Amino acid sequence: QRRVRVPHLTAMKERGEKWAMLTAYDMYTAEIFDEAGVPVLLVGDSAGNNVYGFETTVPVTVDHLVPLVRAVTSAARRSMVVADLPFGSYQASPQQALATATRFMKEGLAHAVKLEGGAAMVPEVELLVRAGIPVMGHIGFTPQSEHVLGGYKVQGRGAGAEKLLDDALALEAAGCFAVVMEMVPAPVAAQVTEALRIPTIGIGAGPDCDAQVLVWQDMAGLRGGRMPRFVKRYADLRGALLHAAQEYAADVAGGTFPAAEHSFDS
Ligand code: KIV
Ligand code: NA
Repeated sequence: QRRVRVPHLTAMKERGEKWAMLTAYDMYTAEIFDEAGVPVLLVGDSAGNNVYGFETTVPVTVDHLVPLVRAVTSAARRSMVVADLPFGSYQASPQQALATATRFMKEGLAHAVKLEGGAAMVPEVELLVRAGIPVMGHIGFTPQSEHVLGGYKVQGRGAGAEKLLDDALALEAAGCFAVVMEMVPAPVAAQVTEALRIPTIGIGAGPDCDAQVLVWQDMAGLRGGRMPRFVKRYADLRGALLHAAQEYAADVAGGTFPAAEHSFDS
C-alpha cells in the first residue's frame, strides 16, 4: 500500500470523501491507527498534556517531540505523519520556522508539519512550502496562544467569522495543504470549508469539515475526568487498563502469578 500524500487528500475533497486524523505519540498507536486506515497521524504538541503531564502545550519543546515523531513515522506504513511545531520554535522568523521544520523532517522523518496561526504566519508557510515541506495550518482556538485568548473558548463567533475566513484563505494562498479549525461554530466552519480548495480538519468545528481530528486518548477513553464537548469516546481504555493492572497486582500479591506455565524448568 502506498503512503498517503498531499494529492490523495486534495482528491478526497474533490470526491466529497471525509476522512479522520488522530494524534499518535508512539509506536503501537501508530501501528494500530495505520492498520485502521486512518490516513493522517498527527504528532501533536498535545503530547504536553497527554504524554508529558504539562497543563498546557506551552512548555513543549522540539526536543520533546522529535523522538515521538521518529517513533510514529517508523511504525506507520501508510499514514501520512504530521509533526506539530511547538510554541516558540517558529514564530520568530521564517528562518526559525525552516530550521525547526527541517529538524522534524530530517531527525523525525516527518512527512509534513503543522503550525498555529492565520494570515500572520503567511511568510513562514511560504518559506517552508518553497523549501518543499508540506504545511498544515491551524486556526480558530489555538492552544499555544491560550494565555492571550483567555482559555479554551470558541473562536469565530460574530465578527470573528470574517477574520477566520480571511485567515483560512490566506493560509491556502500561502500554500498550506490543509487547515485545522478548532472550536469554531459549525456554520462558520461549513462556510470556510466551502470557500477552500484544500481540506479543512475540524475539532469542535461541526460536521461539515472535510475531515475530523481527535486526541487519541480522548477518542479511546484513556483520559479520565470531564471531557470537552467535542469529544466522543469510542472505548473505555482507562477502565480496561485499570482492571488489568488491579488483577495483575492482586495475582502477584496472592501468589497466583507467575504459574508453572510462565516459569522455566531447570
Ligand atoms: O496538538 C494537537 O493534538 C492538535 C490537534 C488537536 C489539532 O493540534
Ligand atoms: Na497542537
